[in-house]
Amino acid sequence: MTDLIVVTRRPPGRALAMLEEVGDLWVWPEDRAVPRDLLLEKVGAADGLYCMLTDAIDEDLLDAATRLRAIATMAVGTDNIDLAACTARGIPVGNTPEVLTETTADTAFGLILAAARRFKEGIDYVRAGQWVRWEPDLLLGQDVHGSTLGIIGFGRIGEAIARRGLGFGMRVMYSSRTRRPDVEASMGVEWMSFEDLLVGSDHVVVATPLTPETHHLIDARALRMMNRTATLVNIARGGTVDPDALHDALTTGEIAAAGLDVTEPEPIPADHPLLDLANCTILPHLGSSSAGTREAMAELAAQNLVNGLAGVSMVACANPQVTTS
Ligand code: DGY
Repeated sequence: MTDLIVVTRRPPGRALAMLEEVGDLWVWPEDRAVPRDLLLEKVGAADGLYCMLTDAIDEDLLDAATRLRAIATMAVGTDNIDLAACTARGIPVGNTPEVLTETTADTAFGLILAAARRFKEGIDYVRAGQWVRWEPDLLLGQDVHGSTLGIIGFGRIGEAIARRGLGFGMRVMYSSRTRRPDVEASMGVEWMSFEDLLVGSDHVVVATPLTPETHHLIDARALRMMNRTATLVNIARGGTVDPDALHDALTTGEIAAAGLDVTEPEPIPADHPLLDLANCTILPHLGSSSAGTREAMAELAAQNLVNGLAGVSMVACANPQVTTS
């Protein structure tokens, strides 16, 4: 019998064509997340699931998906997927590391520059017709070049952000559970404790996965440790930063500015108080959103699912202990 593959959003590039070669497809056709009830119904007959970071892949869904042999998510982050439950059921989960690293690091740097140099306020100023002359002290921000960059989480994306920082002549520090002496020596970056990094950085970037341990890692206490001239950038997951504490820190001047690619909740509601702040730049989770990178992610996810259904190792697997060969 031909495998049935459920696809929760239409991916770019050749991904669907790749999947069509190995199975029959059911593709959610609309430009919004597939309604939960419908997804629960459709996975009942699915052999493979091609999903997005907006789909919750939890025990309930897995209970409904009695035939499921492989899952592929078009993302590197897997915090929307109960990996332990998938592993217990012997279902490999493919994800998309590597292909989005540089694009996401570009986004982080864009947000550092936008927040530290007050681009959002500048754009609003021009649009409001307030730009009538050059001013010697207009919208003075903080320098990025030659300053100190602190990166929280030092996986592939953290490292790519560090390379950009070094290119800007920055002192680069990182904090992560696993210290990387080889990278410290080869790149010239310094490991710091979480607290020392917050105290010593001009610009702090959160690049760590969302786990129970990193939920609200940046809370009121952490924000108090940062410099009053510092910027905070989050390109990881919204849940790593406490939004209420951030709002307080930005309005009381505990830190100078923030740049967020991800928020809690996500999407952020249009009436959320953070959106009223001139010193908070918010993007709609665009970290990996270049045309080429999204195609590469879509196709890597498709290849992962093709492999998973064939019972061979996925190109990138988030629970490799399940992979069969
Ligand atoms: C991911 O792949 O996890 C990213 O957040 C998508 O941009």
